[in-house]
Amino acid sequence: VSAATTEKPWKRYTGGEAKGFVDEMRLVAMKLHTRQQAQEGEKEAKAPEEQHVEEWEPTLHGYLKFLVDIKVVYDTLEQIIEKPSFPSYGEFRNTGLERSEKLAKDLKWFEEKGYGVPEASSPGVAYAKYLKQLSEKDPQAFICHFYNIYFANTAGGRIIAKKVAEKILDSSELEFYKWDGELSQLLQNVRDKLNKVAENWSREDKNRCLGETEISFKFYREIVRLMLS
Ligand code: HEM
Repeated sequence: VSAATTEKPWKRYTGGEAKGFVDEMRLVAMKLHTRQQAQEGEKEAKAPEEQHVEEWEPTLHGYLKFLVDIKVVYDTLEQIIEKPSFPSYGEFRNTGLERSEKLAKDLKWFEEKGYGVPEASSPGVAYAKYLKQLSEKDPQAFICHFYNIYFANTAGGRIIAKKVAEKILDSSELEFYKWDGELSQLLQNVRDKLNKVAENWSREDKNRCLGETEISFKFYREIVRLMLS
């Protein structure tokens, strides 16, 4: 039995010596968390969304805004992968991590329950626009966003989901946090593909990719902040 198949969803790469490029991306991402968000975080929390999730006060209205905007981001990412500007993106088709259809189901569920689903707002639209432009000119930098957006949802996203479910959704579980198949295996497959694609990159390419992490955090945080609005 390989390590990948026995991996528990919450037991992931813990940093230390980077063995593949994904470890490097993860190390950079973990450092950008606040200490309140994750054990490996190094930043001081300032904004409300940087505080410990336990202390959050999400609202249903805000959470719906978050879902609508994050869907704009996933729709765009998944369209980019479907019609790739660079052949390397093709590796990331049908990974099982796709979220667009799941989010569509969730928003339909809210609509059927009589909740008003808002229009997309600037945080989601701005990130989607940035991703589209970046994907056409800088595949290394784009891949950084691909990694962060999908992996953030399976880590911090699920912590947030639990809190939101308890506090405002009467413990209902959204499709956004359900995957067809074993999540740990899906993630491992994507890590392997990311490592493979990055094998052909120069150190300069890798550094440019790692340097995008901060931009990804900045955009993503604006969208997460909607939950608390
Ligand atoms: C991992 C929490 C936001 C990207 C993690 C982990 C935690 C966490 C606890 C560690 C999971 C583990 O290894 O066991 C949070 C919380 C956030 C947040 C509470 C609040 C908003 C973000 C943002 C991004 C991000 C904005 C980037 C856009 C990542 C990535 C990992 C991670 C890439 C590594 C996942 C893996 O190795 O599988 N996060 N995070 N997170 N987070 Fe976040």
